[in-house]
Amino acid sequence: MATDKTFYLETFGCQMNAHDSEKVIGTLRQQGYRQVESEEDAGLILYNTCSIRDKAEQKVFHRLNDYKRLHKEGKRFGVLGCVAQQEGEKIFERAPYVSLVSGSASYRKLPEMLMRLEAGENRITGLDDRQTDETFETEFTARQNPYRGYITIIEGCDKFCSFCIVPYTRGKERSRTSSSVLNEARRIAEFGYTEIQLLGQNVNSYRDPEGKCSFAQLLAAVGQVPGIRRVRFTTSHPRDFTRDIVDAIDQVPTLCDHVHLPVQSGSARVLQKMARQYTPGWYLEKIAWIKAAKRPISLSTDIIVGFPGETADDFIQTMDLLAEVQYDCVFAFKYSARPNTPALTMIDTVPDEEKNRRLQALLDRQREIQRVNYSRHIGQVIEVMVEGANSAKGQIAGRSSQNKPVNFNWPQPIAPAPGAYLQVKITNAYPNSLVGEAV
Ligand code: SAH
Ligand code: SF4
Ligand code: F3S
Repeated sequence: MATDKTFYLETFGCQMNAHDSEKVIGTLRQQGYRQVESEEDAGLILYNTCSIRDKAEQKVFHRLNDYKRLHKEGKRFGVLGCVAQQEGEKIFERAPYVSLVSGSASYRKLPEMLMRLEAGENRITGLDDRQTDETFETEFTARQNPYRGYITIIEGCDKFCSFCIVPYTRGKERSRTSSSVLNEARRIAEFGYTEIQLLGQNVNSYRDPEGKCSFAQLLAAVGQVPGIRRVRFTTSHPRDFTRDIVDAIDQVPTLCDHVHLPVQSGSARVLQKMARQYTPGWYLEKIAWIKAAKRPISLSTDIIVGFPGETADDFIQTMDLLAEVQYDCVFAFKYSARPNTPALTMIDTVPDEEKNRRLQALLDRQREIQRVNYSRHIGQVIEVMVEGANSAKGQIAGRSSQNKPVNFNWPQPIAPAPGAYLQVKITNAYPNSLVGEAV
């Protein structure tokens, strides 16, 4: 008798994980599986996990604990992604009802792992770690985002920032060929997507295995694919950020006027201990290039507060850097010690309540900066791409090229579809969003 193979997949973590899940879903469908909306309805329950901070890592164990009773009904569990790679076979000890543990560097072996699972095997692992040079490419990607097509251009990371788990969970840096990236861009444009986001933990260290183009040239080429109206990219590491990226944004109108350039700290001493390979001065030089562009380019960043040994003075330097750069968006995190990382051996000197205080002070300061930045748009007419409805406010939600959320009133009974482009006159501004009227 043919059994109905069903799976449920929940994804945690960054956009790389979100896109990996799109590829995993496609692979599962290809193997005859059907996706369902709840753990209860599924034969195979999968979690694609994140371990960037301890809190993120704990989520999967809570989830497994909440649903382990379903194992008695014969349901199988699989843990994918960064926690899988980090914890490996230890997951079987902690959650013996899990049958499959696979990191992202082993997804190309998923069809084989699924076959072993179906044959009744119980401790299947894909833990390729940093040995593999292969990327995971599939023609079966099941795109879940209705308006943004993700394309991975580089997997893994070789930077080994002292606080970060990613080089251990995603393996070594490996770039896809520019021809395969461009083919995928053309395919998804033909499919109807107009926005593409190029993905990598460090897109700036992209090296075309065919030697045809640099990252900036690849970016420009993707921006010129017929039908593409917006191209985003994330994440840029300041060490490898080159001026030709700014030139490309200036020259190719489809490249969005937004750069996310994580700084982590404003203190040279802390940056050195983080092994970030740049000083605040070096970083600010890149910012100066970006600010000198012909189009106003929006800037965002990531910050870690309370890194081991961060003094009150180090923190003030981070606050000063915020004041100097005037970012439009900041993702700030309390330092979280990660297994195997060099920072784990440094003494975590900052008490938790002080980390909280610094985080709050930073967010408060940044809020004021954004209040001013966002209010500058009042009166402007901005092109907005529709993302969906903001049901709480009865408005349409979208995003500007600069990546700013825009909520606007829509006079007609039928809402515009996700992916539609509209001109919106900005009438009001908050620190994290703009408000307007469709014109
Ligand atoms: N590749 C990107 C970062 C990916 S992780 C880059 O190099 O910029 C996203 C963010 O999580 C990082 O920029 C950092 O701010 C934060 N992060 C990473 N490890 C962390 C840790 N151990 N504790 C707290 N925040 C961390
Ligand atoms: Fe982590 Fe640094 Fe690599 Fe970013 S560049 S993923 S912070 S090791
Ligand atoms: Fe998390 Fe792995 Fe992304 S640790 S942030 S899912 S690379």
